[in-house]
Amino acid sequence: MQNEPKHLLFIEDLKKVYKNKVVLDDIDLAVSKGEFCTLVGPSGCGKSTLLKLILGQERTTSGRILMEGRELLLPSDSIGIVYQKYSLYPHLTILENIMLGKQLPVSLWRSFLKKKAIRLEAMHYLESVQLAEHADKYPHQLSGGMQQRVAIAQALIMKPKILLMDEPFGALDPGTREIMQVLILELWEQNRMTIFFVTHDLEEAVFLGTRILVVSQYYTHETNGKQGVNLGSRIVSDYALNRNGASSPQIKETAEFGQLIQRIRNEGFDPKQCQTASEFNLEHFDSFQTFG
Ligand SMILES: Nc1ncnc2c1ncn2[C@@H]1O[C@H](COP(=O)(O)OP(=O)(O)OP(=O)(O)O)[C@@H](O)[C@H]1O
Ligand SMILES: [Mg+2]
Repeated sequence: MQNEPKHLLFIEDLKKVYKNKVVLDDIDLAVSKGEFCTLVGPSGCGKSTLLKLILGQERTTSGRILMEGRELLLPSDSIGIVYQKYSLYPHLTILENIMLGKQLPVSLWRSFLKKKAIRLEAMHYLESVQLAEHADKYPHQLSGGMQQRVAIAQALIMKPKILLMDEPFGALDPGTREIMQVLILELWEQNRMTIFFVTHDLEEAVFLGTRILVVSQYYTHETNGKQGVNLGSRIVSDYALNRNGASSPQIKETAEFGQLIQRIRNEGFDPKQCQTASEFNLEHFDSFQTFG
């Protein structure tokens, strides 16, 4: 498959090996601008590793990762990340924490930007995560959910082309989590971002994603018959979901929603799963397999 410029991110025949353990194998993925991709899979299947590779924190063992047609070899401002737990600078206010990224001497141009302009911009992002009135507080004065909102604002101010999120709501209580889910959907719509969101929570994945990627080591290798833990994880399902406007959490109660979660569980989380690559459920119109 050719890498047309229409794909913001293009991954071809990616393999990642740590020592002698194959973590990811035969990963092919083409992502268009504006997609909200949620990534699920059994613990240890390589979800965080895939994010680190896209972020440029780790190198692929083989295969390519391209952004807008160019190979991604180093970390870049175009890709931001929000982790499950973010440590803000305790001696800086919330506003100062958000301004920080813009003030790093990444480029000469940035260092000439007036502090006032950066402050205004930081306030804009604080407002978008509904924290404007807490601008002058210090991190220890905020709840976990509020701190995660600061981390999101901190990522957004850098205007990343791709926002990676590694279980960003994993440490929050269920009520706060649902509020954050609705907030991230609103921000995604407002900022027309491309998001890669890893979660353990299948309900969260189906609620948020316009595309659901299931990564799993549970399948049977087509040539050597090997199964399960000895295999590098692959994308075993790739669903396109139609979203008509922002979803309400009530959608979680519908039968279709529950059925999709059950399908994902069967396809990606069952160690006895014995489908081969030709049987993978790659429904998304951009899905492809190279078998390098
Ligand atoms: N730096 C490293 N060196 C060696 N092995 C590693 C390294 N980083 C990750 N691994 C291994 O790679 C595999 C995938 O790890 P990864 O953290 O990507 O999984 P995950 O899908 O994010 O898991 P979880 O759902 O528990 O967060 C694991 O077996 C892990 O032990
Ligand atoms: Mg992880």
